[in-house]
Amino acid sequence: MSAVIKIENLSKVYASGFKALDNVSLDIRQGEIIALLGPNGAGKTTLISIVCGIVNPSGGRVLIDGYDIIKDYRAARRLIGLVPQELATDSFETPTATMALSRGIFGKKPDAAFIESVLKSLSLYDKKDSRIMALSGGMKRRVMIGKALAHEPRILFLDEPTAGVDVELRKDMWNVVRELKNNGVTIILTTHYIEEAEEMADRVAVINKGEIILVEDKDVLMRKLGEKRLYLHLLQPLTAIPAGLSNFNLALQSEGKTLVYTYDTRTGSSDITHLLDAVEQAGLRFNDLDTRQNSLEEIFVNLVKK
Ligand SMILES: Nc1ncnc2c1ncn2[C@@H]1O[C@H](COP(=O)(O)OP(=O)(O)OP(=O)(O)O)[C@@H](O)[C@H]1O
Ligand SMILES: [Mg+2]
Repeated sequence: MSAVIKIENLSKVYASGFKALDNVSLDIRQGEIIALLGPNGAGKTTLISIVCGIVNPSGGRVLIDGYDIIKDYRAARRLIGLVPQELATDSFETPTATMALSRGIFGKKPDAAFIESVLKSLSLYDKKDSRIMALSGGMKRRVMIGKALAHEPRILFLDEPTAGVDVELRKDMWNVVRELKNNGVTIILTTHYIEEAEEMADRVAVINKGEIILVEDKDVLMRKLGEKRLYLHLLQPLTAIPAGLSNFNLALQSEGKTLVYTYDTRTGSSDITHLLDAVEQAGLRFNDLDTRQNSLEEIFVNLVKK
């Protein structure tokens, strides 16, 4: 897949002297969903703001489909839709008018039917002619998404799009995002709900203190760093791990009623067969078993802690 956004050696030092980005390079592939994860203050919004031409970089460059975001600003910006982290809508306008205006600013012909279809997909159709100030916080955030989509951008930045949006509508929102992806839109998102990234993203970039510390396919990442655990629920509780099982990485939980086997997913599952044989030989009986894999959240927390 070719890179639709090339970020090269980008750095940002704010006027205060604070270095928010340090030599960040990242290629974003055409049609992917990439999640930028990082703790508060890591530099995610700064990075997005530079790519979208809102903040000036201190060094490095960004190309959007070959257009330099500074030299070819208009051509580059036209390809992008941005849902900013901070709500910024004209509260006296209606969702319909806000979208129509934004579409016009980017030089697209008016298309009332398109705008209505976006409003419907965002569950905002019944509010389309209400003043934005009369909408709830979650609705306002969805208006921001509609506004970002009004000019049919090929690249969409979502900076914390689901903050303050209820569970049900969050699902709707992700369906909209999936549909955009199916239509070939490249999506860059940040979220502090890491399980959303786990569900949605093709790739994950982790940014910490202004540096990208990891970029990886999500599946590869979860396989690579994902420890797995097998839980055997024993019929008779144990007080200690039997000697015959000492070669396995085992622990007891739930007052000795659960035997927990932690294993590395890279080594495959052959060890489980050996373990179960050894468990049988040790005379242990169990009435249930289940396995659990590390979540992206656990992987993320470990990465940032290091
Ligand atoms: N205009 C500014 N002037 C000075 N420092 C700033 C400015 N904007 C952001 N910063 C600083 O740059 C750092 C990165 O901020 P940024 O908003 O990019 O973080 P973030 O990763 O988006 O965090 P969050 O998860 O809280 O949204 C922070 O330490 C912040 O205080
Ligand atoms: Mg931010």
